[in-house]
Amino acid sequence: MKQQPLNSVTFYDFHPVQANLHDEVLRGLNQAIRGIPPKFFYDERGSQLFDDICNTPEYYPTRTEIGILQHNINAISECLGSECLLVEPGSGSSEKVRLLLDDVKPQAYVPMDISKEYLLAAAEQLALEYPWLDIHATCIDFTKAMTLPLATDEHRTVAFFPGSSIGNFEPRDAIHFLKNIANLVQPHGGLLIGVDLKKAPNILNAAYNDTRGVTAEFNFNLLRRINRELHADFDVNKFEHRAFYNESDGRIEMHLVSTENQEININGDTFRFEAGESIHTENSYKYSVEEFKALANQAGFDLVNVWTDADNLFSVHYYQIL
Ligand code: AVI
Repeated sequence: MKQQPLNSVTFYDFHPVQANLHDEVLRGLNQAIRGIPPKFFYDERGSQLFDDICNTPEYYPTRTEIGILQHNINAISECLGSECLLVEPGSGSSEKVRLLLDDVKPQAYVPMDISKEYLLAAAEQLALEYPWLDIHATCIDFTKAMTLPLATDEHRTVAFFPGSSIGNFEPRDAIHFLKNIANLVQPHGGLLIGVDLKKAPNILNAAYNDTRGVTAEFNFNLLRRINRELHADFDVNKFEHRAFYNESDGRIEMHLVSTENQEININGDTFRFEAGESIHTENSYKYSVEEFKALANQAGFDLVNVWTDADNLFSVHYYQIL
């Protein structure tokens, strides 16, 4: 691990292995039920499109979670306690943590992300806005076991995982990830996590089928990215965006559905698609508070407090180690 101070940002590089788009796309398309992991949505264009989704009128999670954090900031700060070490796995642009910093006043903030350039740019911007904040930017794959880059004997460690990103994990992977978080924050630490709630299917279906077509474009961008990076020849006009709430599994599913029989070439490999055949691109699980509490219990967490909005669309939970 390399350690390098940059103004008020200290940078730690655990040299995470970067995902291999070519191998994972080929593996996914060779399965009987075709799928591509949703992590590949987020190239530069995909990240921009995701920000645009968050601003569509139909996609309620982002603004609702922000409202919950703002309205309950005193109670949240009290739970986190003063001078905690605040760790954010998958911190990205570190946008939502800004809602906490002034009130929580952490002893230090540890943003963790797999993308070195993005992590550093976000950490340096944050350092400009919060000159008092001690930032320890950590380049690491947060889906694997995580290690803190600094000693924490005197301070409680609290992980922050907003945005209902936990919903994009399969439930058993979510438990595994939460166990990794429990190991990271033990023995006295906590977890502040945003979880999208189960609700009327029409609200969920609208959130993933916005009328401006931003979510559809986000989904199509996966094919455009594969074309750009893997010299593939997907014709985006021959696929349609399909997103629907699967009530029995409690999840939104996103698919790209072939509208005709066709052949696709990816770097010399040919894939045949029948009309109506789909590539499963994402699951976004929705939980009741009780369901999520039971999941977190299995990972060794005990619910301390939960906050929701007036319409019960979204929830923010605070857990401590059991
Ligand atoms: C990042 N994640 C929580 C989003 C979600 O709602 O599952 C990704 C997304 N996919 C389509 N719209 C938003």
